[in-house]
Amino acid sequence: MSIRLDLARDSGLTLSDALSVLLPTPAQDLSDLPRTTEMVQPFKPFHDHFADQGFRCAHASDARCDDVILFLPRAKTQARGFLHQACQRASGRVVVDGAKTDGIDSLLKEVRKRVPVEGPISKAHGKIFWFAADAQAFSDWAMSDMALVGGYRTVPGVFSSDGIDPASELLIAAMPDRPGGRIADLGAGWGYLSSRLLEREGVYSIDLVEADHAALECARHNVSDPRARFHWADALRWAAPEPEDTVVMNPPFHTSRAADPALGRGFIAAAARALAPNGQLWMVANRHLPYEAALEAHFNRFEELGGDARFKIFNASRPRRRVGAS
Ligand SMILES: C[S@@+](CC[C@H](N)C(=O)[O-])C[C@H]1O[C@@H](n2cnc3c(N)ncnc32)[C@H](O)[C@@H]1O
Repeated sequence: MSIRLDLARDSGLTLSDALSVLLPTPAQDLSDLPRTTEMVQPFKPFHDHFADQGFRCAHASDARCDDVILFLPRAKTQARGFLHQACQRASGRVVVDGAKTDGIDSLLKEVRKRVPVEGPISKAHGKIFWFAADAQAFSDWAMSDMALVGGYRTVPGVFSSDGIDPASELLIAAMPDRPGGRIADLGAGWGYLSSRLLEREGVYSIDLVEADHAALECARHNVSDPRARFHWADALRWAAPEPEDTVVMNPPFHTSRAADPALGRGFIAAAARALAPNGQLWMVANRHLPYEAALEAHFNRFEELGGDARFKIFNASRPRRRVGAS
């Protein structure tokens, strides 16, 4: 069990079997919860983690339940939206568990102004508290609809929700007028790269592969072109329907606050797998991230093209075939 949830239960919190858990991550060991528990997780690798444990899983839910546990996300508007949603769905308690770095203290302060709070218990650089679900008390925190930012639809919590990412803009500017026939956009976000590539010549199809369901929904609005195919998938496990001519990506570099270049290296391996033998990878990365060895390991040729002081752009071709790879 997760450490703070354990303490809350020791101090008298009881939870019904008709329980919904919002935004659980593999960092929390929830394996002793009853398998009637619904896990709501829009991020595909985390969703699959709990599905593999036999839980009922969904990318979103508005089903009624007794109790809700919300694991606090970092984006404030998103956190408020989920808390409002929890109050709409639960007839019993809403439990909120979060790290200090994700804003649990300020959220607790705001919740206290509106409803009586039980707990709070502090442990492991975070807090847990709970209160009786109140459908009215947080009505002004309802999740807003998609916002229109620079002509693109985004929602709070998705990557670069307040506008075009400068690194992605740089990558698009460096790419050729004919970017390739079959293209995969790994970690497509709300669809900026795909939408721009579809303006260019010779594009036959684009596979947008994105783990965050909310971002992919935005992409469906931003890329309304019949050549686009949308995949809610973990790019590290995704199998291209047919070999791609081009992979384009601005890979994620952290799963939590700490940078994790292993994730980007996994994306490079996935790109090499998805490409046809004469296919090409176009990628942009923060200049300090060490991706050269992975490019060397997975491609016969790669070069750095331009970029700027913050970002570097790579073009790689002739993916190396792995022994045993299909
Ligand atoms: C740096 S952002 C780039 C987004 C978009 N391509 C753009 O240029 O604005 C990386 C994206 O990868 C997604 N992502 C993270 N891990 C992933 C995974 N394992 N599989 C697929 N997408 C993932 C994130 O949700 C995020 O949208």
